[in-house]
Amino acid sequence: MKINKSTNLSLDQFINLALYDKNTGYYMKQNPFGKEGDFITAPNITRFFSEIITIWLITFLKSLGSPKKFNLIELGAGNGEMMKVICETLKNFPEHFNSCKLTIIEKSQYLIEQQKINLKTEKITWTQDLQENYKDPTIFLANEFFDALPIKQFFKRQDEWYEKFVDLKNPKKAKFKEIKTNIKLIEQKLNFEISKEQNIIEYSPDGFKYLKIISNIIERNRGGILIIDYGYLNQKMQDTLQAVNNHKYSNILENIGETDITYNINFNLFKRFINQYKNLDTLVTNQKKFLTSMGILQRAEIVSKDIPFSKKTDLFYRIRRLIDEKQMGELFKVMLIKNKDNKFQTGF
Ligand SMILES: C[S@@+](CC[C@H](N)C(=O)[O-])C[C@H]1O[C@@H](n2cnc3c(N)ncnc32)[C@H](O)[C@@H]1O
Repeated sequence: MKINKSTNLSLDQFINLALYDKNTGYYMKQNPFGKEGDFITAPNITRFFSEIITIWLITFLKSLGSPKKFNLIELGAGNGEMMKVICETLKNFPEHFNSCKLTIIEKSQYLIEQQKINLKTEKITWTQDLQENYKDPTIFLANEFFDALPIKQFFKRQDEWYEKFVDLKNPKKAKFKEIKTNIKLIEQKLNFEISKEQNIIEYSPDGFKYLKIISNIIERNRGGILIIDYGYLNQKMQDTLQAVNNHKYSNILENIGETDITYNINFNLFKRFINQYKNLDTLVTNQKKFLTSMGILQRAEIVSKDIPFSKKTDLFYRIRRLIDEKQMGELFKVMLIKNKDNKFQTGF
C-alpha cells in the first residue's frame, strides 16, 4: 500500500500497511516466531499442543459421524508447525487421515514458502484467501489468527462516536487522531448493532468477513471452527491494541513494519455475531481447561516415563507455560462454533 501523505489512515488501514504491505509489511518479510523472533506461539512451545488439538479433532469428527470425506482448513499457519504435527499425529488414525483434504489459508507469500519447507512431505493446498465454495463437512483451526487481523477502534465521548485514525504525514512522527463518525451508518453496513451498551468499540472488519464465510460453510456443510486466541469474555469491549517487539511491548507508531501489532479478542462479541445464525452456537472456555480436560498432563506423564530427568523437566516447564493461569492458561480462550444440533462438548 502506498501512503498518500495528505490523508489519514483509519486504524485498520494503518495496521494493514504495517503488517501486510507486500514489500514492507511485518508478516510479509520475516519469520517472527521463536526465540530469535518477536513472540512465540503455542505450537512452537511444545508439539504436545498440536497433538492435543489432533485428539480433539478426532473426537469432534466422531460427533460428525466420522465423514468419509472432510476438509481440514488452518487459517494463518505461521511457520507451519501446528499443521506438521497434526499430519504426523493424524497418520496414526489412517481412516481419518485418508478422508481428509488439507488446506492452509495464508496471506503472507513469505510464510507460505516457510510452511512449504516445513510441510514438504504432506499433500496440502495453499490459498491466500478464503472462498465459500467448499463441499463436505469442514473443520477450521485458527490459533492466534484472529488477533493478527487489522482492527478498527471507536470511542464514545459525550454521546458522540469518534474513530481512531493515524496521521502519517510524517511517518517518523506518526500520531493518532480521532475523527467524529456516524456509528449508525457503520452498523447498517455491518448489519449488526455493535455499539449497544458500549463506550469503546474494537473489531476487525476482516475478522467479521471471515466469520461470515466460515459460518455459511458450517451451516451448509456441517463442521466447526476451533478458535484459540488471546481474549476476554466481558460484555463491554476494551481498548486492547498493542505492539510487540522482541518479546516486549513497544510503541505501535514506531518502527512501522518491524513490530507485530495485535489485540485481544472479545469472545462475547464473536458469540453475539454468531447468534445471528439460527443453526449455529458457540462453546467457550480457557486454554487451561481445554488442554487439561483433553489430557495434556496425563499424556506428558506417559511420554516422559522413559526420558532423562532434564528433558522431563523441560517438557513440564513448557506445558506449564500453556496451562498456568498466570501465563497462557487463562489469557488464552478456546471457542468452538458448531451446528446447534451437534451436542458435542469435549474440551469445554
Ligand atoms: C500470529 S500468527 C499465528 C501463526 C500460527 N497460527 C501459530 O500459532 O504459530 C498469524 C498468522 O496469520 C496470517 N494471516 C494474517 N492475516 C491473514 C489473512 N487475512 N488471511 C490468511 N492468513 C493471515 C499471518 O501471516 C500469520 O501466519
